[in-house]
Amino acid sequence: MRHALRGATLSFHRDPFLHDPESSYTYEPDALVIIDQGRIEACGPYRALADRIEPETPVTQYAKHELIVPGFIDSHVHYVQMPIIGAYGTQLIDWLERYAFVAEQRSADPAVAAATARAFLTECLRNGSTTGAVYCSVYPQSVDAFFTEAERLGMRMIAGKVLMDRNAPEVLRDTPQRGYDESEQLIARWHGQGRALYAITPRFAPTSSPEQMELAGALWQAHPGTYLQTHLSETHQELAWVHALYSERSDYLDVYDHYGQLGPRAIFGHGIHLSEREMQRLHESGSAIAHCPTSNEFLASGACRVHELKDARRPVRIGLATDLAGGSSFSPFETMLAAYRAAQVNGHSLSPLHAWYLATRGAAETLYLEDTIGSIAPGFEADLAVLDLASTPLIAGRLAECASLADQLFVQIVLADDRAIRATWVAGELRHDRGNAA
Ligand code: GUN
Ligand code: ZN
Repeated sequence: MRHALRGATLSFHRDPFLHDPESSYTYEPDALVIIDQGRIEACGPYRALADRIEPETPVTQYAKHELIVPGFIDSHVHYVQMPIIGAYGTQLIDWLERYAFVAEQRSADPAVAAATARAFLTECLRNGSTTGAVYCSVYPQSVDAFFTEAERLGMRMIAGKVLMDRNAPEVLRDTPQRGYDESEQLIARWHGQGRALYAITPRFAPTSSPEQMELAGALWQAHPGTYLQTHLSETHQELAWVHALYSERSDYLDVYDHYGQLGPRAIFGHGIHLSEREMQRLHESGSAIAHCPTSNEFLASGACRVHELKDARRPVRIGLATDLAGGSSFSPFETMLAAYRAAQVNGHSLSPLHAWYLATRGAAETLYLEDTIGSIAPGFEADLAVLDLASTPLIAGRLAECASLADQLFVQIVLADDRAIRATWVAGELRHDRGNAA
């Protein structure tokens, strides 16, 4: 049914790292967003659009202290690891063996996978997140469970079965041919089905044999429009391991390159310890980095050099990501704050506008979906989060001191949590509403 939202809107239409930040977004204090069949039909100042709606068209009116933004996009996340969020931390390789590999085995049971998917997507919606690039486990049933639940909610989701044939517990291993065949069946079942998109998902170079890497690249080349997601250059220990396993390759990225795994719709998680050559190659191949700052802090992996990756001479597509459950929060605010801290560690200040872009349009660019989601514009899918900018007494008080929109956004980034997510709309349907939640 055709309907509309009325309230303040904020949306990016281009990259503020590469253009004047102040002219990279649109803020409209009293906007009308007209939605028809899950898409934004029109949006702009209320006074300019009011005559486009009939008296009987339902209009959801938001308050002065509320702000309609594009739904947040998580460019790298492991839904099957949700049960171990907050497990007492170690560092990556030990953490994988001690926690992640144990949790992932539980998703072999379709009922467990379905319950985890349901809990995971509920939590995404409670945090205003509407799209993710999602790692399932090695079991095809974990992918079926995830897409089934996402379809029920109408969410645009990218996901895939992990490919892993070595350096993991026996029960979590496939073989090159079996991984290929199961992935291909999942592509046939899910890719392009409603809002689902498939990602071929070799976990990372150490857990795939050269034969599996070869087939993963071939499978991706054989199915244009699918994604390829994996991990890249997260820790020094991992780097040394990759070097030992693939000693004939010039660096970590060259391993993926050799197996035909670079290009548009290739999403590499982390990318912390990259060389200039690797950044250049990411740029020229159109590959993207998912920046996972809460995870990088939690596992003491390092701090991704966002400003260097965004060097205007060879900018790389970058989106923010939670990397749950190595990451420690579903919250886009906490993730943006961690990105701010990571930039600080590298001697840069990440402005709230830049952080917001990375969590919305920037993440859409990593997915090559920047013409579909991540902005509020005509023709875009109507995935929206509505923020309460005064969700706690502390924030409300602090807001009164803010002189600019950027200041207001930064206060949200530092202080807000899920209480600030007033509502979440998915393809024009209200899927989370704090007003009614109580
Ligand atoms: N590298 C390979 N697998 C994983 C994972 O599950 N989480 C993180 N953070 N890094 C990885
Ligand atoms: Zn990850």
